[in-house]
Amino acid sequence: MSITNFEGKTFNVVTYGCQMNVHESEKIRGILSSLGMMEIDDINKANVVVFNTCCVREGAEDRAYNNIVALKKIKATDKDKIIVVCGCMSQQKNGKYNLKTKLPFVDIIIGTHNINQLANYLITFNETHKRIYDILEEPNASVDGVKCVRDDKTNAYVNIIYGCNKFCTYCIVPYVRGREKSRPVKEIYDEVKDLVQNQGYKFITLLGQNVNSYGKDLDEKMTFSKLLTYLCTIEGDFKIKFMTSHPVDFSDDLIKVMKNEPKVAKTLHLPVQSGSSKVLARMNRHYDIKHYYHIIKKLRRAIPNITLSTDIIVGFPGESEKDFNQTLKLIKKVKFDQIFAFMYSKRSGTPAAEFEDQIDDKIKNARINKLLRLEKIIQKDTIKKYFNKTYDCLIKQINGVAVGITDGGKEIYIPTYRYNNQNYFAKVRVEDIRNHKLSGVIVK
Ligand code: 5AD
Ligand code: SF4
Repeated sequence: MSITNFEGKTFNVVTYGCQMNVHESEKIRGILSSLGMMEIDDINKANVVVFNTCCVREGAEDRAYNNIVALKKIKATDKDKIIVVCGCMSQQKNGKYNLKTKLPFVDIIIGTHNINQLANYLITFNETHKRIYDILEEPNASVDGVKCVRDDKTNAYVNIIYGCNKFCTYCIVPYVRGREKSRPVKEIYDEVKDLVQNQGYKFITLLGQNVNSYGKDLDEKMTFSKLLTYLCTIEGDFKIKFMTSHPVDFSDDLIKVMKNEPKVAKTLHLPVQSGSSKVLARMNRHYDIKHYYHIIKKLRRAIPNITLSTDIIVGFPGESEKDFNQTLKLIKKVKFDQIFAFMYSKRSGTPAAEFEDQIDDKIKNARINKLLRLEKIIQKDTIKKYFNKTYDCLIKQINGVAVGITDGGKEIYIPTYRYNNQNYFAKVRVEDIRNHKLSGVIVK
């Protein structure tokens, strides 16, 4: 049977989890489009539905599982519908859900290492109508080079490193994504160049579970700062962002590059996880809170207008009221521009799942609510710092109004400016703040 069997058929990809998954789904959409299929919004009607799953927390898993199960009825009446489940949840060994037995109506279940083979799996399934279950321990070939179908026309994600060697005790990622593997420099360079010079992208976001580890597994004595510097030699009007960084590998060199390279966006996502050094040690984060404060101080000294965001886990096993208060103290002190806070979620197979001093859900709930309430108050104050400051912004149009997007993603409305249908970078000064909304003018 030839590839054309899928020609004219429809598909829908449902994505859970982080930017890595969002980008992987762009590759999945590329693979399905290359079979001649068309994307539609309605998962009930689509001929092929792919669930790209996440298992970083129980909530994400439950959501995916329930949504897959919801398709069972439709599959019963539409026997030709093909359902595919891939991503972190299928790769998990001892998870809450054993997908193979719990989802017998799913036609193809593959893991995180063989998504590049999706077209072949579909073709084989179409020929044999035999259920496919294939989870690999290691990647068999690179998914890089697969043509992506990107939603966002301004920002493009680019993978630079896969996997993670850090083994934070709460985290399932190293088990489902494998060891760190950097992409060759030349490949990344060519992809970024094409996105900027041929496809008009203005922001490039380099992706990895831990981008600062980039190059450690390559022969070429490459580092992440060197990669960034090299990518900045690409000609064009664009900026580079990156995520996620780990405080341990965050070098002074990198701060220098961020400060000195106009093409590196002045924004950073630096997960702290906890304000307590005791908790950080049990999380196996390899830094204490002093080290974190020190990085923030150096960053703000070098780049005063930098936008900072972080991840925080509340209710990690053994987290005392005192530890939690240290996290509150941290967020009061640092005044992040954005915080992503999560209740600790027990992940089967990780060391922390075996810790005996698990925290009661009620306490976790109370703590996260307290943290979010405090964060709201801090945010009211933090936004004031934008007043009368000038930011390098991408000028775009949103709902008919010209808007400047800062490196950190903040929108500054420019009501006096007539947008000329071109996205470009310009300096915008904030002149007014009302109801959390910034407005300003373009300055020469
Ligand atoms: N429970 C809660 N949050 C978690 N994260 C990772 N694993 C867990 C877990 N088991 C959070 C961390 C990480 C972010 C992507 O997800 O804060 O930085
Ligand atoms: Fe998970 Fe830690 Fe690796 Fe991040 S650095 S993916 S939190 S193990």
